[in-house]
Amino acid sequence: MFLGFILLLHCALDAPRRPTHTASTMSTPLRLGILGSGKGSNFRAIADAIAAGTLAADVRIVVSDIENAGILSLARGRGYRAEYLAPGKFRTKLEPEAEQRLVALLQEAGVEWVILAGWMRMIKAPLLEAFPRRIINIHPSLLPAFPGLESWAQAVAAGATKSGCTVHYVDAGMDTGEIIAQAEVPVLAGDTPASLHARIQVEEHRLYPEVLRKLAGE
Ligand code: GRF
Repeated sequence: MFLGFILLLHCALDAPRRPTHTASTMSTPLRLGILGSGKGSNFRAIADAIAAGTLAADVRIVVSDIENAGILSLARGRGYRAEYLAPGKFRTKLEPEAEQRLVALLQEAGVEWVILAGWMRMIKAPLLEAFPRRIINIHPSLLPAFPGLESWAQAVAAGATKSGCTVHYVDAGMDTGEIIAQAEVPVLAGDTPASLHARIQVEEHRLYPEVLRKLAGE
């Protein structure tokens, strides 16, 4: 049944959009808070869809745990509020005080959906409880295959013949939350981790805005 839901969502996402309705007339704008630790290409894809009028959403704030992350400069360049959040002493999660500050930042910004776009820390109770079933992530594999770090390298090392990306709700586990949608890519002979990641990212940049568009229409 669960697989059926995913397939149905795929069909819905792939269905041609009715040309007489724009996203802004069909949907309630989503109020997004975007969290990222890296270069921010998924943020850019979402921002491009909003700018093109194909996604009814409003980016209220972009937050990074890395002071010089590309995602922060991209966000500032587009006039979005962008904040560095000092993560504290842990490597894989925020210090509890930092996570509370993050919750406060997101709530004060009026965020309703928390969008992880290359965020490299586990999400803990304060954030999960403040945004129940309102935190989503994009992961560069066909979950449940290859959770964790550098999934593209894991796929190449394992000799996988296909990989892809998954958008899922975030829970307390590592890449374990309920799957919303997936997109598949082939792993080609001669692929390096970098070439496979590049192919996966093309699909990420298509799939993440598509999923948000679907959520905006619900
Ligand atoms: C993406 O591959 C995403 O799936 C993973 O981290 C990467 C972030 O890339 N969670 P970018 O910063 O959006 O370019």
